[in-house]
Amino acid sequence: MKKIAIFASGTGTNAEILIRHFEMHMDAQVTLLISNRADAGAVKMAQEYGVETMIVDREQFYSTRSVLDELKIRAIDMIVLAGFLWLIPEILILAYRNRIINIHPALLPKFGGKGMYGKHVHAAVLAAGEKESGITIHLVNENFDEGDHIAQFTCAVDAGDTIETLAAKVQRLEHEHFASAIERML
Ligand code: GRF
Repeated sequence: MKKIAIFASGTGTNAEILIRHFEMHMDAQVTLLISNRADAGAVKMAQEYGVETMIVDREQFYSTRSVLDELKIRAIDMIVLAGFLWLIPEILILAYRNRIINIHPALLPKFGGKGMYGKHVHAAVLAAGEKESGITIHLVNENFDEGDHIAQFTCAVDAGDTIETLAAKVQRLEHEHFASAIERML
């Protein structure tokens, strides 16, 4: 049984779908959710599913090896970032090389990098006059949004689209494809 740790700091809609997807799975399960915000919706949600949660602070995340130790103690095989905004420290990248997956709400390499998250991404896509947006599921390396791509899925950007309508289309793609992409990686 492969064990998955999710890192999430937002609402946690993707994290919830992953927890549910792997709940009765034969080969994998989400056994830990790590967040940098105790009040994140993702934390409350995970607790409701009985998934262990852990809150980390900046000092602990970047200046100690305690997160890696906690992951190792629990024999975590794979890390999934589902709305986690901090850069992943090298110690985790090295220990989990090619086993850390992120989902980004745009078609990388465009509209990625520091500060490109949530509404900022969709605003930039609209401002650039793109005809298409979508999601990128990718491996995580030392730089924001730069690891190898695992899969991309697209949606049309229509003339009347606003940040909200585009965000909804992109979120639909995330909810539809993230779990199966992770399953293929396992
Ligand atoms: C998603 O849009 C994902 O692409 C990005 O963070 C967001 C998380 O949303 N990395 P949610 O908390 O899962 O609803």
